[in-house]
Amino acid sequence: EKGGYDYFMLKEIAEQPKAVADTLLGRIDGAGSLTLDEVRIPANVLREVDKVVIVACGTAFHAGLIAKYAIEHWTRVPCEVELASEFRYRDPILDQQTLVVAISQSGETMDTLMALRHAREQGAKVLAICNTNGSTIPRESDAVLYTHAGPEVAVASTKAFLTQLVACYLVALYLGQVRGTKYADEIRAVVRDLGSISGAVERVLETMEPVRELARSLVEKNTVLFLGRHVGYPVALEGALKLKELAYMHAEGFAAGELKHGPIALIEDDLPVVVVVPSPRGRSVLHDKIVSNIQEIRARGARTIVVAEEGDDAVVPYADHLIRVPVTPTLLQPLVATVPLQVFACELATARGNEVDQPRNLAKSVTVE
Ligand code: BG6
Repeated sequence: EKGGYDYFMLKEIAEQPKAVADTLLGRIDGAGSLTLDEVRIPANVLREVDKVVIVACGTAFHAGLIAKYAIEHWTRVPCEVELASEFRYRDPILDQQTLVVAISQSGETMDTLMALRHAREQGAKVLAICNTNGSTIPRESDAVLYTHAGPEVAVASTKAFLTQLVACYLVALYLGQVRGTKYADEIRAVVRDLGSISGAVERVLETMEPVRELARSLVEKNTVLFLGRHVGYPVALEGALKLKELAYMHAEGFAAGELKHGPIALIEDDLPVVVVVPSPRGRSVLHDKIVSNIQEIRARGARTIVVAEEGDDAVVPYADHLIRVPVTPTLLQPLVATVPLQVFACELATARGNEVDQPRNLAKSVTVE
């Protein structure tokens, strides 16, 4: 059943190119246009939406954080992302013009279900992004966009996360397409780029041996920090979450710009710090700032593990370990940058003798609040 792999997690990491391709299948075409008829919320209702609110838990919440960047950029509609468990208890402002997006692999997470029930009671429309056909969350939503990751068995989410990202991009691009924005050309170009993203994920997987080797060399460490900016920030949070879940290590993700406001005090000799570097193209200011961050932490003794785009030479002098990912449009980078962090956590956990498919104290789907 594990298809020749020792763990479901390894199998599911390897299945990611297919999961991504399957989630795009029939929804995009080579001409850059997008078909999401399955989202049965009428176009006129989507045009009236004045706020998007995303609710989710755990890894799905990180997909939501990334979605915010895409939705606000391509649609110019304000977007909030909230942990489902916090949502209804703060009396959130919702009405008929609010689109709530509930992201859940299982479709059974009670916190997310209660958040969406609350949203519907307030008159908001709810769109579910879900991997499990006919589960409770899509049944109780106005519409559903299924991810086609296939069954995910390992408790720590990998392929479901990548497909949640794909679904979030599709929603963002679709909203942009339906509403019409100044980014129409960019939207078409990104839809075309999505067509080759599964191949990019495949290429990342082919280069993971040095990452596994690095992970094994850190087996005695107690702490690993993760830094990122822009969409790389939620990737850092996800890298840290994977390490907590699987390796039971202290791991924290920070926004790199926040480093100087506190976390830099944690840097000490030989502390591993994973840095997710944004593309030097596009938002090059952010790229340059993060290169300075890498210099700063390295000067204070950090062991820098740098995830950077192919051809980004500026990082080379400051990277103790360099992990290359293929060039992608800026907003899509999490689809490739997350993969090495999954492999890293999985290998480190195995090296520590942990059971990666069934980490202690965790359940695949938490059906209590
Ligand atoms: C958890 C799982 O408790 O639920 C996580 O251990 C998962 O891996 C989270 O991300 C949310 O689950 P779901 O099914 O709602 O996406």
